[in-house]
Amino acid sequence: MSTHEKELGKTDKNTHRGRDISLHLPEPFRIRVIEPVKRTTRAYREEILLKAGLNTFLLDSEDVYLDCLTDSGTGAVTQDMQAAMLRGDEAYSGSRSFHRLKDTVYDIFGYMHTIPTHQGRGAEQLYVPTLIDKREKERGLKREKMAALSNFFFDTTQAHTQLNMCIAQNAPCEDAFNVDVYAPFKGNFDLGKLEHAIKTAGANNVPYIVSTITCNSAGGQPVSMANLKAVYEIAQSHEIPVIMDCARFAENAYFIQQREPGYEAWSIPEITKEMFKYADIFSMSAKKDAMVPIGGLLAFKDNTFSDVYQTCRTLCVVQEGFPTYGGLEGGAMERLAVGLVDGMRQEWLEYRIAQVDYLVDGLRELGIVCQQAGGHAAFVDAGRLLPHIPPEQFPGQALSCELYRCAGIRAPEIGSLLLGRDPKTAKQMLAPAEMLRLTLPRATYTRSHMDYIIQAFQAVKENASEIRGLTFTYEAPVLRHFTAQFEEV
Ligand code: F0G
Repeated sequence: MSTHEKELGKTDKNTHRGRDISLHLPEPFRIRVIEPVKRTTRAYREEILLKAGLNTFLLDSEDVYLDCLTDSGTGAVTQDMQAAMLRGDEAYSGSRSFHRLKDTVYDIFGYMHTIPTHQGRGAEQLYVPTLIDKREKERGLKREKMAALSNFFFDTTQAHTQLNMCIAQNAPCEDAFNVDVYAPFKGNFDLGKLEHAIKTAGANNVPYIVSTITCNSAGGQPVSMANLKAVYEIAQSHEIPVIMDCARFAENAYFIQQREPGYEAWSIPEITKEMFKYADIFSMSAKKDAMVPIGGLLAFKDNTFSDVYQTCRTLCVVQEGFPTYGGLEGGAMERLAVGLVDGMRQEWLEYRIAQVDYLVDGLRELGIVCQQAGGHAAFVDAGRLLPHIPPEQFPGQALSCELYRCAGIRAPEIGSLLLGRDPKTAKQMLAPAEMLRLTLPRATYTRSHMDYIIQAFQAVKENASEIRGLTFTYEAPVLRHFTAQFEEV
């Protein structure tokens, strides 16, 4: 039983906190479709990994036994989602499927205007340039002086901001990356840092603030309702729009229900609606909590930013597609409308969070240091596991290679390799922690797979002192972690 399951086992009938369980939570679904996977030998994996330049992003999925690269578009879909696809209205404009999606977004989030996009970054490429242009034109400012702020920007949101010549600056709370400290809401903004950043840049020079829920970069850590509200109040007092980057909105709502005083009796849909009051626009990668293999959303709460909405619709035509289908076919919009609802089920979220918790508990029992269990992944502190490898030799990437060699498990580095070089000085920036992310696709792997990962770490740990650091043989100028190649030092 995981720590989280034990907490849930303390029955409290009047709230969603205590559930009537005395055993561990098994899967709350039946598995009806099977994707076979191949087992490989260590010798085979060693050879394949060398060919892939010691970068697991460059492996073929065929050669991966257990794929923890991402939870983005890799999970199972529900029967109702699959069935909904058949209802697709593929009209170029004004389809029934678009209306169903738009109405669902309004029901769940209370947002009036919706633009479907092919995925999260499709939404980012619409709102980021529009908001920066707007500041420049309306207030006669230079974008080079602007700074967008966030609890922590996801890499594509950061990249879009920087491509538009604006600085992307983070204001995470003090303990966000401290694996030795437990805090219920490690995804929170540091409000003092946020206000200081606004003052330093000048409020006019902050084109937007992004609240990332859950905060992926800090280890899938949630943001509290109180923090979301405080950020929104600060932003409003300075006339800065707030964008909710909400790929994992349901997991965030679940953590609020379980951890924040006052929300224990609220349902996930109630908490979700409340969270979204504290933003003006949302940008969603629907490939996570909305459970679809492909899809995204850009939505506007009301008419406050109707000019931005109109410009985004126009940009959508050239970049994604006509604004009533954006980047999606009709069937995919139907599937997404159902996924948004199915992803919020109480027993589903309970199970999912307990699975991450079980994995983290198991790794910690081996003495492996991890970030406290978050929403979608276990984040292993590779820096601590491989203290003999300096950050410039990417301990997270070295661990990723060893885990693959050892067990055929693929997991990405989240550390200095991902962070990259300072755009001005070209010097390697150092991440707050050198992590490996064991990301769990939804409803794809069982507890027995979690046990397999834990066993693999036992073997990796025994051999840890032999693992060597890495140096580039190829490095792309941006987003280098996807294509980089390495050799051992
Ligand atoms: N925002 C967050 C918080 C994300 O985690 C992601 C994607 C995006 C935006 C971009 O969305 O991929 O649909 O274009 N995260 C994936 C991950 C890729 O593995 O964490 P996208």
